[in-house]
Amino acid sequence: MASNNASIIGIVGAGAMGSGIAQVAATAGNNVVLFDSNKEVQDQAKELIGKMLTKLHDKGKLEESVEEIVGRITYAEDIDEFKSCDLVIEAIVENLQIKKNVFEEIESVVSKTCIIASNTSSLSIASIAAACKRPERVIGIHFFNPAPLMPLVEIISAVQTDADLNSKMKETLESWGKVPVSAQDTPGFIVNRIARPFYGEAIRILEEDLANVPTIDWAMKEIGGFKMGPFELMDFIGNDINYEVTATIFKEFFFDPRYKPSFTQKRMVEANRLGRKTGIGYYIYGEDANNLDPDRNDGLGEYIVNRIVSMLINEAADALYLHVATKEDIDLAMTKGVNYPKGLLAWADEIGIDTCLKSLEELQAEYGEDRYRPCPLLRKMVKKGSKFYD
Ligand SMILES: NC(=O)c1ccc[n+]([C@@H]2O[C@H](COP(=O)([O-])OP(=O)(O)OC[C@H]3O[C@@H](n4cnc5c(N)ncnc54)[C@H](O)[C@@H]3O)[C@@H](O)[C@H]2O)c1
Repeated sequence: MASNNASIIGIVGAGAMGSGIAQVAATAGNNVVLFDSNKEVQDQAKELIGKMLTKLHDKGKLEESVEEIVGRITYAEDIDEFKSCDLVIEAIVENLQIKKNVFEEIESVVSKTCIIASNTSSLSIASIAAACKRPERVIGIHFFNPAPLMPLVEIISAVQTDADLNSKMKETLESWGKVPVSAQDTPGFIVNRIARPFYGEAIRILEEDLANVPTIDWAMKEIGGFKMGPFELMDFIGNDINYEVTATIFKEFFFDPRYKPSFTQKRMVEANRLGRKTGIGYYIYGEDANNLDPDRNDGLGEYIVNRIVSMLINEAADALYLHVATKEDIDLAMTKGVNYPKGLLAWADEIGIDTCLKSLEELQAEYGEDRYRPCPLLRKMVKKGSKFYD
């Protein structure tokens, strides 16, 4: 069954994200036109989508045959083939000027009513939309990697975006089986903004030599309930990619010290210790790997979890305070986009807002750094004795 909102979907960029989104859209019943300027990538995408769908089919997770789904995807030679698309999703290289050029090109071939969306992780949708003659049709739809498996999609309306487009996209994405949340067009949207201290505060604890890498990871998993520790996750994502996101967010927030990148991470990148992909990052990978054991000290573990989770809660509260998203969407984003064990605002209620505020105030008093300044919303809530959820 084709989706009711958009039945011909154009996708530019057939890399990690574009191929995954193509698979999602075709599985949901849409006809997909996939284009990549690199023919080799396009061929690889075709093979990969076939393999991924076969795996899902073998597990009994598809309602249709693989042939039916792949039969709905055509591989374009040129952007001209997007002529009859209802929605075009851009998933090319993260470079503003290149994206702007592609948006201009897309707009020159599609109909007046075609929606054009970007999957950018870090660029402002307003800046991309500004490349179009009809910027009101431009919106951000930020999928998570791998797109077929991660349910969350952040929808970002730019200042120019038509007021109705957000709910239209929400309906479309829900019909694709996704969990959409709405975010303001601010750096990092919801997930990449709120998640910064998960990495940054863990590195800070390491730099202060309060605990080593395996101990911090052990604490966050065993005591905090996170699926992966911060260092394991950075090695998995790639330290280069994680550093780039941090550096971009720091710059985009006009150098707010809360998002300051670390020398430790920068040096890891300079040393090509990128994580799993280079065989070495915070851990060594491979058969001969001999990594340290964690120091399973409960008191230290609780200190680590409390410090990192307080910082995460502070970010979530700040995003709510500044109307980046609703409290429900903030909690949904962190559980469905990065698998956090609980929504951070619900977690704050559980811990107690006064306890969260006290932890942050103690950190700020100890370090005297703006990095630890508590969100004004937490202070207001403690004064009123209120919670995020009743
Ligand atoms: N990888 C992730 O974890 C992730 C998650 C969410 C969002 N994103 C965003 O999605 C976008 C794509 O990321 P990716 O990881 O899939 O990158 P990728 O490098 O795997 O794929 C990008 C593809 O775009 C193609 N391309 C570049 N310029 C083009 C053009 N002018 N016309 C057509 N094709 C062109 C390249 O050949 C390449 O195959 C970026 O904006 C990125 O920030 C990435």
